[in-house]
Amino acid sequence: MPKVKALNHIAVVVEDMEKSLSFWRDALGMELHGLNEVPAEKSQVAFLPLAGSEIELVKPTSDDSGIAKYLAKRGPGMHHICIEVDDIEGMLAQLRSRGIRLINEEPRTTADGRKYAFVHPESTSGVLVELYQI
Ligand code: CO
Repeated sequence: MPKVKALNHIAVVVEDMEKSLSFWRDALGMELHGLNEVPAEKSQVAFLPLAGSEIELVKPTSDDSGIAKYLAKRGPGMHHICIEVDDIEGMLAQLRSRGIRLINEEPRTTADGRKYAFVHPESTSGVLVELYQI
C-alpha cells in the first residue's frame, strides 16, 4: 500500500518576488536556497528550507499559466501543500478508487526527475494538494 512520508513544502503564490523575499528571507531570516525559472510551469520559484520542509514562493512569468489565472482571480496567498509519498502511481490509483478528484491523472516529472501530481481542492476541504515522489 502506498504511504505518505513527509510534508515536503508549502507553496505561496506571489505577485512580486522581491517584496515577498523581503518578508520570508530578510525579515524572518530564512535562507534562500534557490531561485529558479520553471519554464514548464511558466513560473519563477524560490525555495526556503525549514527543518526538512520548505516554503516555496511561486510567481507566474506569463499571463496564460494556471498560476497566473489563480493569482488574477484570488490574489497572492497560500497556493498548495505538498506531501511526499513513496509510490505516487500507487497513491493516485488508491485515491482514484476512493472517488477523489485528481487534477493530474498521471504524474508529471520535474527537470530534476521528481514525480508530482495535484489533487483537486474539491476533494480535500479546499486545499490544493500536491503529491511528490523523490
Ligand atoms: Co509545489
